Amino acid sequence: MKGARRRLRIGYYNAFSRVYDSFIQMHSSGDSRTSLRDELAASVGVGQGDKVLDLCTGTGAMLPPLSRRVGKDGQVVGVDFSPGMLQRAHDRVADTVNVELCRADVTNLPFEDNTFDGATISHAFYELNGEDIERFLREVHRVLKPGGHFVMMEHEVPTRAVIRMLYYLRILSMGSAKTLGILRHEQEQFESIFQHVEKRLASSGESKIYICTKRDAD
Ligand SMILES: C[S@@+](CC[C@H](N)C(=O)[O-])C[C@H]1O[C@@H](n2cnc3c(N)ncnc32)[C@H](O)[C@@H]1O
Repeated sequence: MKGARRRLRIGYYNAFSRVYDSFIQMHSSGDSRTSLRDELAASVGVGQGDKVLDLCTGTGAMLPPLSRRVGKDGQVVGVDFSPGMLQRAHDRVADTVNVELCRADVTNLPFEDNTFDGATISHAFYELNGEDIERFLREVHRVLKPGGHFVMMEHEVPTRAVIRMLYYLRILSMGSAKTLGILRHEQEQFESIFQHVEKRLASSGESKIYICTKRDAD
């Protein structure tokens, strides 16, 4: 993403961070969101002592479920480029010992190759721009250990007509190339980088989860 556009996006997320959690609360039942995040944390397949990355962590809603999975000997790192969002995430995990926050662009991750046992991105993949997507996926693949899983959760195309219209408006606002990418070539994007890709419907039936696996060491 070019400099000016990137600064604009960061400014937008900084402003949004003040109301983000209340906005999410208003648009979904708190319980269903929480169990959805637990489900995503379970899908990444990490266990006690593992190291896991949450990309575009926002206000850090994925951090507590991931922290419980890896336990006190493990480590969770939440990455985001918005200081405002990271401040909210910091407030959320202030008492949690195994969580670190990192300000960075997810298309240029400041980590060594083969560092993490797993990585998640929740309701943020569609926020990335066309040209950034391949760079992002290459970076995630690079920092994952062989055999590690990257899991992505986004809304599935809604079945109810009015909600479906709002969904299409959201993705159309991202441009025609992006819309086509989402609707036609989504799985191919993952398959061009990861060796194994599986798509599941979350138990709510309203979100989809892609589980992408990096080839195990030969
Ligand atoms: C919808 S919000 C947060 C979603 C959060 N994962 C959740 O489940 O609530 C999207 C987040 O992505 C972050 N973001 C977008 N593009 C990014 C990029 N290129 N690098 C780092 N963070 C980015 C924004 O700052 C924002 O916090």
